[in-house]
Amino acid sequence: MIPILDLKRQYKQIGKEIEKEVVEVLRSGSYILGKHNKALEEELAEYVGVKHAVALNSGTDALHLALRALDIGAGDEVITTAFTFVATTEAIGIVGAKPVFVDIDRDTFNIDAEKIENAITPKTKAIIPVHLYGQPCDMKTIMDIAKRHDLFVIEDCCQAIGAKIGDKQVGSFGDAGCFSFFPTKNLGAMGDGGLLTTNSKLINDRVIALRNHGGAVRYYHDEIGVNSRLDEVQAAILRVKFKHINEWNKKRRENAYRYNELFANHLEIQTPKEMDKTYCVYHQYTVKIPNRDEVHKMLQEEGVGAMLYYPVPLHLQKVHEYLGVGEGSLPYTEENTKLVISLPMFPELTKEEQKTIVDTLIKCVEKSRLSRVG
Ligand SMILES: Cc1ncc(COP(=O)(O)O)c(C=O)c1O
Repeated sequence: MIPILDLKRQYKQIGKEIEKEVVEVLRSGSYILGKHNKALEEELAEYVGVKHAVALNSGTDALHLALRALDIGAGDEVITTAFTFVATTEAIGIVGAKPVFVDIDRDTFNIDAEKIENAITPKTKAIIPVHLYGQPCDMKTIMDIAKRHDLFVIEDCCQAIGAKIGDKQVGSFGDAGCFSFFPTKNLGAMGDGGLLTTNSKLINDRVIALRNHGGAVRYYHDEIGVNSRLDEVQAAILRVKFKHINEWNKKRRENAYRYNELFANHLEIQTPKEMDKTYCVYHQYTVKIPNRDEVHKMLQEEGVGAMLYYPVPLHLQKVHEYLGVGEGSLPYTEENTKLVISLPMFPELTKEEQKTIVDTLIKCVEKSRLSRVG
């Protein structure tokens, strides 16, 4: 079996160092908002190229607290994509606002920036572009639109730590950047974790208060907050892993380009397209294939751990029925959810495994084609 992701291989590489740091935290008696939290925030702010970073309990909280910090709530609309993990719109729902979906670009899987302006109404307060699979959105167009219409931009960078446009990292374009440290992410904790980046002192201070029961001073509470602190153990683990993020992202890119080469003569398998001047960090390597569901089953039987991210677009999920956005409203989103399949992708994936995955996929696609002819 070749898994979609094998975290045990990563642990072999850095396990000793992690164990040392974790034991030190356990012995220190300081488990919440300690020195590792502070250091992680400083290191990540510098890495992303922003003034502030706030460590949180999850990427979902980063999104929802960004919205809270911008006073977005009931009666407001937030423009985003329906081709993402549900947490993006869940955050909008948590604050009582309404998601407004814009279709994706057919090739990059990201929100089609050119279509955003049509979706703006007097109620629109913000745009949440999602850098899906590690590929940056068209931030130049998005920031221009936001400026023209006086909208906030919250980047969902949960799948894209280290991704860049030119020299500028995702999470540094908008008013806030939201990162997830869910274990499967390019930089993953060993539990849940998240982070918000911003250049705004106001957003930073508000999120620091919101994550700790709505008060900046202990036992003085200004508003309803949440408990969204990152555990010190997770912060210590993340700091060990963070030292490797550039090298790991580089390896993911090498693996992606190797896949592209291996698929080069197989036009029935559409490999991912990168936008110009972007540094894509391949959280997923996602191709489009015919007879996707059948081929997916065949791959599982052949021992290749491929996954479908995401099989049902968000506008067609029960949770969003109330929006009344029916089938046919977002053609490219709907088309892609039927075609995409993500192949094993992680830094430690070997060349031999990649060759096996590619050969197996090609074989399965052909078999499924022939079964239809017959
Ligand atoms: C695009 C996207 N947004 C938001 C999230 C939410 O992050 P978390 O699981 O840390 O809450 C995730 C990850 O799961 C994600 O992939």
